[in-house]
Amino acid sequence: MTTISLKHIHKSFGAVAVVKELRLEIADREFLVLLGPAGCGKTTTMRMVAGLEQATQGEIAFDGARVNELPTRERDVAMVFQNYGLYPHRTVEQNIGYPLKLRGVPPAERAQRVARAAERFELGPYLQRMPRALSGGQRQRVALARSVVRQPRVFLMDEPLSNLDAKLRVIARSQIKHLVQELAVTTLYVTHDQVEAMTLAHRVAVMHEGVIRQLDTPENIYDRPADTFVAGFIGSPAMNLVPVQAAGAQVQAEGGLALRLQAPRDGALTLGMRAEDIAISGLDEAHLSAEVYTCELLGDSTMVTVQVGGQLVAVKADKALRVAAGTRIGLKLQTERAHWFDRDSGRHL
Ligand SMILES: Nc1ncnc2c1ncn2[C@@H]1O[C@H](COP(=O)(O)OP(=O)(O)OP(=O)(O)O)[C@@H](O)[C@H]1O
Ligand SMILES: [Mg+2]
Repeated sequence: MTTISLKHIHKSFGAVAVVKELRLEIADREFLVLLGPAGCGKTTTMRMVAGLEQATQGEIAFDGARVNELPTRERDVAMVFQNYGLYPHRTVEQNIGYPLKLRGVPPAERAQRVARAAERFELGPYLQRMPRALSGGQRQRVALARSVVRQPRVFLMDEPLSNLDAKLRVIARSQIKHLVQELAVTTLYVTHDQVEAMTLAHRVAVMHEGVIRQLDTPENIYDRPADTFVAGFIGSPAMNLVPVQAAGAQVQAEGGLALRLQAPRDGALTLGMRAEDIAISGLDEAHLSAEVYTCELLGDSTMVTVQVGGQLVAVKADKALRVAAGTRIGLKLQTERAHWFDRDSGRHL
């Protein structure tokens, strides 16, 4: 069993702070996804857990014991990187077996365990090949096979799927999920892809500019975003965020467009609505009316984009719907699923 604690971690490169006051407790066997846009500090955080980077301040502990000073190889972590980190001059077999060789496992046992890991990832036919003679998907499987050739304390995965095409990525994603469930190893997984985060994680830590904005289950991250950053990052499309002004019973979007909604308080607010929580309705029963900007067929649904006070808002509609650009339509919200944020702080009200 292994828990990981990051206590008040700071990391600066020179004068630039890239991770700030990070606190994170990863439970035994938890699959925790660190999610955020490019440059927010995900890889740096993972590298500190791996021991490839030193924290400027704060403590990292495995099972309560400080590991800051422990070199990578003594931390017993298995890593999978975006570029797979395979040794170019070693065969697939040597690559997979390397962690065992490093630990002095005798050749006969090594061969057995490599064969087993290779079989799991259907790499049997490629054992004598060099990495350069493999496709991206095959290299990715070699990296995974190498990470599971022994039972590590912790899995660290940094965007392991980002070099795969869309179809392979979906398959590999479910393989990783299955694998980690089966091995029951505490996992820290880094990605900027919110779909990966939602599908894989027990909990997601949404990171922005070196700070964790929300740490919660995928359901709560989606249904109860803590702020407009999280709301605008999660979901495809992301939550519609419309700046509004509320006064008394009046809610107005930019340009004076009136919304027939009850705001939780007066002032400058941001109204958040998910595309699937908005329905197209008759103008008389609508919460607001808007002009159609585009109508896109997605196969399983139709995405209607409308203009609400200078802002584009996506509406997920029935796949049979066709509506011409420029048409004025009514929109009805599921009001209990509307989100209200303070405009200045971005916090959920
Ligand atoms: N060795 C370094 N020296 C100076 N700055 C660095 C170093 N490593 C990372 N940084 C900076 O720290 C910030 C965070 O980088 P990091 O690689 O952790 O981001 P990330 O969240 O993994 O982004 P991406 O999604 O693009 O991989 C970036 O602004 C980056 O330029
Ligand atoms: Mg990175």
